[in-house]
Formats: sequence, C-alpha cells, structure tokens
Amino acid sequence: MKSRFTIVALSAAFLMLGSVPAYSSSKEEKIDDLAARVFAVAEKQAVMAASQLDATTLPKSMKADGTMAKTICRDWVCGFFPGTVWYIYAYNQDPEFKDLAWEQTQKCAPVQFYRTTHDVGFMINCSYGNALRVGGIEESREVLRNAAHSLATRFNPVVGCTRSWDAKDSYRVIIDNMMNLELLVRVADMFNEPQFRDISFSHADVTMKNHFRPDYSSYHVLNYVEETGEVTKKYTGQGYADESTWARGQAWALYGFTMMAEKTGEKSYLEQAEKIARWTIENLPEDYVQYWDYTGAAKILANEPGLDRKWAGELPDGSILRDASAAAITASAFVKLSETTKDRKFAKLCRKVAVAQVRALASSDYLAEPGTNCGFILKHGTGAYHGNSEVDVPLSYADYYFLEAILRLQGKVE
Ligand code: GLY
Repeated sequence: MKSRFTIVALSAAFLMLGSVPAYSSSKEEKIDDLAARVFAVAEKQAVMAASQLDATTLPKSMKADGTMAKTICRDWVCGFFPGTVWYIYAYNQDPEFKDLAWEQTQKCAPVQFYRTTHDVGFMINCSYGNALRVGGIEESREVLRNAAHSLATRFNPVVGCTRSWDAKDSYRVIIDNMMNLELLVRVADMFNEPQFRDISFSHADVTMKNHFRPDYSSYHVLNYVEETGEVTKKYTGQGYADESTWARGQAWALYGFTMMAEKTGEKSYLEQAEKIARWTIENLPEDYVQYWDYTGAAKILANEPGLDRKWAGELPDGSILRDASAAAITASAFVKLSETTKDRKFAKLCRKVAVAQVRALASSDYLAEPGTNCGFILKHGTGAYHGNSEVDVPLSYADYYFLEAILRLQGKVE
C-alpha cells in the first residue's frame, strides 16, 4: 500500500531533528491551550445540540438539508452524545454539564436489556460507563451489569465470539465488536463475574486469529457457521472492497486490542495492538486524518488505470473522502497504547502520532465554528459511503473520541 512516509522515516525524523510530524509547526500550540480552545467550542456546541433535542432524542449526524439527524436509544450511536457531555464535564467540572450529561445518559436506560444488538457495549459504556467513571453516579453500576448480562447472551462458545449482526444464513462478526468488550471486562472486575472476562478473552482471541491479514490490516465482516465455528466468508460492509482496509474498522481494531491489552495485561493483545498500530502509522496520509478507506484512497493516489474513482472515494472537487471519526478513534487509541507498550521508543512515536492527529482535527479544516455544524464538534466524518449514508458529515462518535483523545493526552481520563 502506498504511503507518504514509513515508521522508519518518522522515527528517523524524530531522532535526527528532534522534530514532530509534518503536520506540526515549530511554533506549536501547547496541548493545554489546544484543549482550552477545543473544549470552549465543545461546550457551546453541546448546548446548541441539546437545545434541538426532546425527552427521547439524541444527536446522530447532519441531514442533507443542513438540519440535525436525530435518533433514539435504539440506535448504536445513542451513548456518544451523553459521553461527549461527560467528557466536557471531565474537563470543566461545571455542575450544569454534569446535569446535562446525566439527563442525556438516562435516555439510554432501556438499552441495558437489549439482546438484539452487540452495540450494547458502545451504547451503555459511553453513557452510563462515563456517568460512573467521570460523574461518580453509583447507580450506573447496576445498569452496566445488566448490559453485560444482555451482551453475554449473544456469545456462542462454538464460534467463540459474541454475534454482531443477526442474519439467518450465518453468524456474523464485525471488527467493530472488539469495542464492546470493554463493558464486559469492566463489569467482570466490578462485580467479580469472571464469565464476562472469559467471553471477552475468547472473542478477542478468535478475532485475532481470523479477522486480520498477514500484514495486520483488518477485514470488516466475517461469516461463521454457528454449529462449527468455521469461517465461510471475509468481506466488507462499509469499506471499498472485500480485500480493502476500511479506515474506521482498522481504528476499532487498534482501539479494541489496545483496550484489551491495558485492561487484561495480556501480552498477545499488546503485541497485536502494536502490529495494528505499525500498519496504521505506515498508511496514514500526510495530514494524519484517514481517508474513508485506506485501499480505495491508495488506488486513487496511485492513479490506478481503469479505476472507478468515485467508487474508490473521489469527490466531485477531486479530493478524497475523509473520515474524521477514524482519526479521532485512532488518536485516542494511540495515547493509550503509548502508555501501555513496554517499548519506550515506540511509545514516543505513538504519542507523537496521536498529537499530530489531534492537532489536525483541532484545525479549522475539521473543527466546527461555534454555532454551526448542528452543534457537532467535528466536520468530515463518513458513516457508510457506498450506502450513501452519512457521507462527509459530522458524526457523534467522532466528537466523543476526539474529546477522549485530548483528555487522555492531558491525563484527565483513563
Ligand atoms: N459500528 C458501526 C460503524 O463504525 O459504522
């Protein structure tokens, strides 16, 4: 795959010049100043977003007419706006934001009993998980426990994974599902329920075995036979092609294995996270914000003959479609990996890449002007390009992981 630079080049640049990646300048804004600037925007945007909601709705994205696309607790994204407000509270300790975060969190209450989606982990851990972690709201514990029990009903010991999408013809597991394991490991520790830890280890082990190519790029979706655990198909749901690397999928993989390494201390997960990280660094674009699909973008950049450039992600103005959410998730994961890896040189590299990604997202290219963008913080996210769903728009999860990355850089959240 084409890359503007490699780990070697990056490391050499850091060593020889003592400098930072290409996107940064020598007169850099300090991280604390960047945080103050971004959180000032985030506070205004959260108030603007909340003003558009009623008792059950939550922000999702932006519609073609420029109005907010709203959703309810049934949607996989329901926990991200409550989580975003919790992160604002983690930054400013303003009780008004605590009240707002708790109000938004409680909209997700029914999710704790959902058994028809693997996304329970995202939905409850980002909302109630942060109500406990950031807000200290003790009653959240029971909600987390109920949600873990619901999620565990989707585990099949023959396959060794929790099921992602329900389908009649196969047992489908998507790479995104690594993210739901955090709920299980947290609840396992909190309530001494080791079965949840066993499930999360099994899911991570099977995913590690089946979901990656030899170079540690990831497949998006795998079909398993429920009765035997055999893999029958590896393909994409939201990326460019079955053999391509969908940017957000690779971001989920990096975050998921980094989280498992940190939470369990398991060496194999750390090694996996490091390998996914090295692939990611080698394949990031020059400005550190991922194109929507690494492979599609690489084909456009290489001027591949006969390529359907639009299908690969070229926009009418000749630019290539981005996904700011992939950059936000990756940045947050890189901060965590920099604190988890035992390789100190690699830790420095991970942190520098995280900082470069955060700086890029905090630039006017991606950061919204207060009062615009329907109250979302970041611009230029991509949900499902080929499905013509959420293309080049704000996304609630981009905002969530962006604030998380900054707070992690500041040591304000785990
Ligand atoms: N988990 C769904 C997505 O990343 O679009």
